[in-house]
Amino acid sequence: MDRRELIQSGTAAAAGITLLKPLTAFGYRANSAIRHGLLGCGNRGSSVAESFSKNTTAQVVAIADLFPDNLAAGRVRFDKINAGLGRAAIDEKLLFHGPHAFEQLAASPDIDLIQISTPPFFHVQHLEAAVAAGKHVYCEKPVGIDVQQARHALEIAKRVKPTQSVDVGFQCRSAPPIAAIAERIQTGALGKIAAVAGNYNAPASTEKSRPGEGKDEYRLRNWLWDRALSGDILVEQNIHIIDLANWLLGAHPLKATATGGRNVLSHFGDCWDNYQVDFTYPGSVHLSFSSTQFGSDGAFDAGLKLFGSDGSAYSGPVQITGKQAWAWEDSSPAEPGSGKFAANGAFTDNLAFADRNKERTFIDSITSGPCHNQIAAGVETALSCMLGRMAGLTGHEVTWEDLQAHGEIYQLGFSMEQFA
Ligand SMILES: NC(=O)c1ccc[n+]([C@@H]2O[C@H](COP(=O)([O-])OP(=O)(O)OC[C@H]3O[C@@H](n4cnc5c(N)ncnc54)[C@H](O)[C@@H]3O)[C@@H](O)[C@H]2O)c1
Repeated sequence: MDRRELIQSGTAAAAGITLLKPLTAFGYRANSAIRHGLLGCGNRGSSVAESFSKNTTAQVVAIADLFPDNLAAGRVRFDKINAGLGRAAIDEKLLFHGPHAFEQLAASPDIDLIQISTPPFFHVQHLEAAVAAGKHVYCEKPVGIDVQQARHALEIAKRVKPTQSVDVGFQCRSAPPIAAIAERIQTGALGKIAAVAGNYNAPASTEKSRPGEGKDEYRLRNWLWDRALSGDILVEQNIHIIDLANWLLGAHPLKATATGGRNVLSHFGDCWDNYQVDFTYPGSVHLSFSSTQFGSDGAFDAGLKLFGSDGSAYSGPVQITGKQAWAWEDSSPAEPGSGKFAANGAFTDNLAFADRNKERTFIDSITSGPCHNQIAAGVETALSCMLGRMAGLTGHEVTWEDLQAHGEIYQLGFSMEQFA
């Protein structure tokens, strides 16, 4: 077994438990698991929670979901995972469903950490309850779908206690090749940046429906198509690339112009299927960003290219060309047609280990400190995406200040109590 296999295997996960300090400043005893409550038992939420279970000392002890069928599926999945790891099944009293499930989960004294994996519209509401209850929080991106929610999140950020850790789900920053190239770019390996190009082209999501459901339930289950629930593709999905651009450039965009629309998607919803955005960063550095959701052939292409006075970087194979040439050491030819995110050889893709590393760093912050508070950084990236969205929807240039003053506000337009 090589080092990488060892890290990936359950052996390493089990070893991780015994490596905890005997009693940390944060009160977690050696061998005691972080009691993990999953809010939103869907695709991403369940796979992140499973990854936490397999790669860290966190143990899913509670789950919550709006819909009973999704909760039931989550229960089956995590009982199986827990059994495989020699852990107890989820206690009946720690299964919550309905519109108040997030409050019940937050009120439970049997949970240390809440993972928020609900549709974006609810993130800030759910974050508020989890932070107020003193839980550690892993909140999926985006932190807010409009300016009002973003402001609210910044208020919540101030209430996070020094002993509480809050992470936002930007796992790409934790991918080893991306972290390594970022360090080089941030310390000037490309010289003066001339321009940046980014793209996020992905297949459209497929319909989820259930017999007899009403229109609000249909909307909630197909939240990816709905701008109020998701924030649109720029804010919900493309945010990963815009987050990397902000991180690598060390700033948020100052203004944006954009176009886009709905050319191929004809199903329910108001999210666009393409955006072309020109973001201006400090120093007149432009990020030319294009995004498309198209067809269903599974092809996927997302990346960022930076061009500087001394070289260029990052897209496909993670590498720097030019004066300070560098390549991720595991680079080798990609599997043709693998559909992976910028596939790059021995690492099956650039994001291999991104989740695992992100989760381990977060759990370390809880058990050993220092605690994280990533809310404000998450808000900055979400606002950057909203800037592009507003420029596209209004059809004219929007500055950071315009966004703060006139950013659009989204409402659900129905009561969640009908799902009680
Ligand atoms: N970091 C990443 O790479 C990444 C990738 C995919 C999705 N995401 C994010 O993860 C989140 C979840 O995405 P997903 O793909 O798992 O979606 P999903 O639709 O598969 O799951 C969402 C779940 O939340 C439940 N839900 C809806 N409203 C709720 C409410 N008010 N209270 C409690 N439960 C509610 C749904 O019933 C469903 O089970 C989204 O915010 C999405 O943007 C992140």
